[in-house]
Amino acid sequence: MRTILFTGKGGVGKTTISAATGILASYYGHRTIIISADAAHSLSDVLEIELSDSPRKIAENLYAQEIDVQKEIEKNWGIIQEYLTKFFSSQGMDNIEADEMSVFPGLEELFSLMQIKKYHDSNEFDLIIVDCAPTGDTLRLLSAPEITNWYLKHIFPIQRTAAKAIRPVANRVLPFPFPSDDVFESVKTITSQIQGLSDILRDSGNSTIRLIVNPEKMVIKEAQRAFTYFNLFNYSVDLIIVNKKIPEAVKDPFFKQWKIIQSEHEKTVFECFSPIPIREINLFKEEVVGIKKLEKVGKILYKDEDPADIFYSEKPFKIEKNGSNYTFYINLPFVKKEEIDLYQKGEELIIKAGKYKRNILLPRVLLNLKIKEAKFKNHILSILFTRR
Ligand SMILES: Nc1ncnc2c1ncn2[C@@H]1O[C@H](COP(=O)(O)OP(=O)(O)OP(=O)(O)O)[C@@H](O)[C@H]1O
Ligand SMILES: [Mg+2]
Repeated sequence: MRTILFTGKGGVGKTTISAATGILASYYGHRTIIISADAAHSLSDVLEIELSDSPRKIAENLYAQEIDVQKEIEKNWGIIQEYLTKFFSSQGMDNIEADEMSVFPGLEELFSLMQIKKYHDSNEFDLIIVDCAPTGDTLRLLSAPEITNWYLKHIFPIQRTAAKAIRPVANRVLPFPFPSDDVFESVKTITSQIQGLSDILRDSGNSTIRLIVNPEKMVIKEAQRAFTYFNLFNYSVDLIIVNKKIPEAVKDPFFKQWKIIQSEHEKTVFECFSPIPIREINLFKEEVVGIKKLEKVGKILYKDEDPADIFYSEKPFKIEKNGSNYTFYINLPFVKKEEIDLYQKGEELIIKAGKYKRNILLPRVLLNLKIKEAKFKNHILSILFTRR
């Protein structure tokens, strides 16, 4: 099953482009479902069709669904949540605090994404399109498999069989309630589901992320940060979409300066995300709602190509740790060795080669290190970072 996740800062056009992609993909015969994983749903407004938390057929080969986040939490996390609430209460927290503590950050989105695993297992669809929550949340969610597993391992470090043996004593001597068998069972199920989801999302032959930006400084910055972390967590990005560009044909003097600013930002988009393919969608005269207008957006974006294709499949960069040093590998398909100039400016690594410029937001682990040496071979730049 092919999975495409759309993400980007608030208001950039995620829901619109997810819907447009789904509509176009259904024309290619893919059994497609568009799901909205953002708790603040607007998919039904964009499609102008009433939706619920079960899939609704809206056209031939096309289904849509808005996930009920609370229901997913209840279903997946209910038993553990009940235990954690009891645990925190036993530590002197009042009920509301204990209840809040029992669902940690990222979990809501994580359980929304569990739908992907469900459809993957059921084989009902060929393509699942996910309209994600804005970048920050999605980031947390995408790194959540590891984080959540880490939490679970540390909160519930002992095996269920061991728990059986020590429970009678533990309940008498420990100053908190000891988890029941159900809780251990539930932890086991969730851990394996999370692992399953993580495997699906990191299968670069089937799952890709499409990042949407507007030609605006802060929007690009946030997408650049997300892009770095997607790479680090081994998720594939196969398309960058620049949405809401002021059309060339607009000659109104009011927009003249805006157009100059936007073309500068388009250059930045290239510097930040190349060699990932970049596509543009102009600003429409009005809001994009209803199947007809969405179809138009889809055709602008994909032209005659199948939206389910994978548009880029290599890893733009990766990190390797050796002892206390790190090597940062960057794929630079278009440049010659003699031309490369490299420097760090704050959080950014800037690579220049003739007219070509790349701009990479460094991951946090590299920020306090210094560049010791750099090599370029087979179009891969490897930079050794060591302690200062
Ligand atoms: N190319 C475009 N031209 C004109 N309007 C657009 C375009 N793309 C999106 N819009 C409009 O911008 C608004 C925001 O779009 P959308 O809801 O798709 O963004 P979003 O990223 O999903 O937002 P949120 O982060 O709030 O979920 C909508 O009113 C939509 O119709
Ligand atoms: Mg939206």
